[in-house]
Amino acid sequence: MLVVNAVAPLALLLVAPYNSQLSDSCLSQYYYGTHGQQNVFITDDDVCLSKAAQHLNDGSFVQLTDDVQQLVWLQHQAVDDSIKPASFVDEFNAFFSRLSTPSQVTDGEQIVFNKQHPAKLLHRTESSALISVDSETALTLDLHLPRFWKASPLPTSPVPFIPVPSKAVDRVRDILDGLKFDPTVASIVSNISVPQLRSDVRYLTGEHPSSEIISRHSFSKGVLIAADWLKDNFEAHGASCTLKPFLSGFAPNVICSYEGTENTTETVLISAHYDSRGSFGSVRAPGGDDDGSGTTALLGIARVIARKGLKFRKNVQICAFAGEEQGLYGSRYYAREMYEKGANLTLMVQADMLGYHAADEPAQLGLPDIIGTPEVAQLVANLSAIYSPELKVGITPACCSDHQSFHQVGFPATQVFERAGPIADPMYHNSGDLSDREGYDFEQIKSIAKVQFATLLHVAGFDLPSKED
Ligand SMILES: *[C@@H]1O[C@H](CO)[C@@H](O)[C@H](O)[C@H]1NC(C)=O
Ligand SMILES: *[C@@H]1O[C@H](CO)[C@@H](O)[C@H](O)[C@H]1NC(C)=O
Ligand SMILES: *[C@@H]1O[C@H](CO)[C@@H](O)[C@H](O)[C@H]1NC(C)=O
Ligand SMILES: *[C@@H]1O[C@H](CO)[C@@H](O)[C@H](O)[C@H]1NC(C)=O
Ligand SMILES: [Zn+2]
Repeated sequence: MLVVNAVAPLALLLVAPYNSQLSDSCLSQYYYGTHGQQNVFITDDDVCLSKAAQHLNDGSFVQLTDDVQQLVWLQHQAVDDSIKPASFVDEFNAFFSRLSTPSQVTDGEQIVFNKQHPAKLLHRTESSALISVDSETALTLDLHLPRFWKASPLPTSPVPFIPVPSKAVDRVRDILDGLKFDPTVASIVSNISVPQLRSDVRYLTGEHPSSEIISRHSFSKGVLIAADWLKDNFEAHGASCTLKPFLSGFAPNVICSYEGTENTTETVLISAHYDSRGSFGSVRAPGGDDDGSGTTALLGIARVIARKGLKFRKNVQICAFAGEEQGLYGSRYYAREMYEKGANLTLMVQADMLGYHAADEPAQLGLPDIIGTPEVAQLVANLSAIYSPELKVGITPACCSDHQSFHQVGFPATQVFERAGPIADPMYHNSGDLSDREGYDFEQIKSIAKVQFATLLHVAGFDLPSKED
């Protein structure tokens, strides 16, 4: 299902900056998703294209031929100058030349690329590229990409452009308008335990002596150990969990839920991704920050839910996604399933990379600049000011974690991130992404987890056991 052979011959591909007003445009029927922060369209409808082109300030066209295979968007991540390699253009060129040169390498380290259908480069800017590769290669590109580049596969046919409905935005605005400090929430969220966060993340990274995990890469043995361990631990703290497979070869999503005490379809979701990515050529992928930190925050929250005997009024889901590093695969499948079921998701908050800040920087909270629902980001920012005033809140261009999958099917969504600026973690996508290192700050993880938890408590509502029980 991932093979794009069916693209009409001589179709045009249009890449234009993200614009949420698309639903009014004829282009919306030719939408192939948002990749990086660009909307992608494929069409041979000249009338629509010329009409739409008048309203686009920016964008570029690529002629597609009938031999395109799986299209994959490659995006250089927004990274701080302190860690940006001088050679990131050269790195990409070297990567692509390896990819497009059929090779006979059989040492088990490198893919033997498909000789009949070599990779093609269709579009290129300094920080992005669109390539065509065979579908097998598309799934494993992250193993070969230079470390700041991420892959995002295009769907094989147009997808509906689904804006967040105004009613759903109004619901978030109502919560925002009614927001005020709740001392019970403050006492609950501050119960997240730092020593427990440390112990949990060390299991996920393999730093803990009892852990056999070497990697949580989506196709590794360790990621399956992590999936079972997460399910067991969430269940031990009162959640009902399922391991939900979504695509052959990938580790499953870990989906945990708490049924609300009210008779309602309303659901609030918090998430992270538990798969990881290491250095090129290394089997070690501890993912201590990316995204062991967000995954551990979820567990820290679940432990407090159990310790305090909390009951939520609305339904709650806690999700640890897989396949994020290959292009948001796990969350895309799950968000689409929720959309197709007509799920009533009030909002979702994804935690991806909470642990790192430079030694001379304060603890921070970054919220996405473009992808996501601004009202949800505002709510999270306000809750941060209330419950974690120690965090310096700002905007980050670090782009496109699993919240994008939800936002793209019309659910209000945002992400919490470790920095009010681009990625600065020197161990990002590196086999040295352990928790025991300079700059990795458990207090910051706790502060951001408090904000994610406070969002859940304020939006889902809750009750504590009465004293007589
Ligand atoms: C969390 O609450 C429990 C009692 O409900 C208490 O024993 C524990 O010390 C608290 N931990 C933190 C970190 O506040
Ligand atoms: C829950 O609400 C639905 C729809 O409003 C209603 O049909 C159903 O009877 C209710 N169930 C209970 C147990 O109150
Ligand atoms: C979602 O929940 C809200 C609040 O309970 C309710 O007003 C609304 O009708 C629900 N929508 C759907 C589609 O179930
Ligand atoms: C939310 O934050 C905005 C901007 O910082 C501020 O103007 C507003 O008063 C805050 N609202 C609440 C309820 O804290
Ligand atoms: Zn991540």
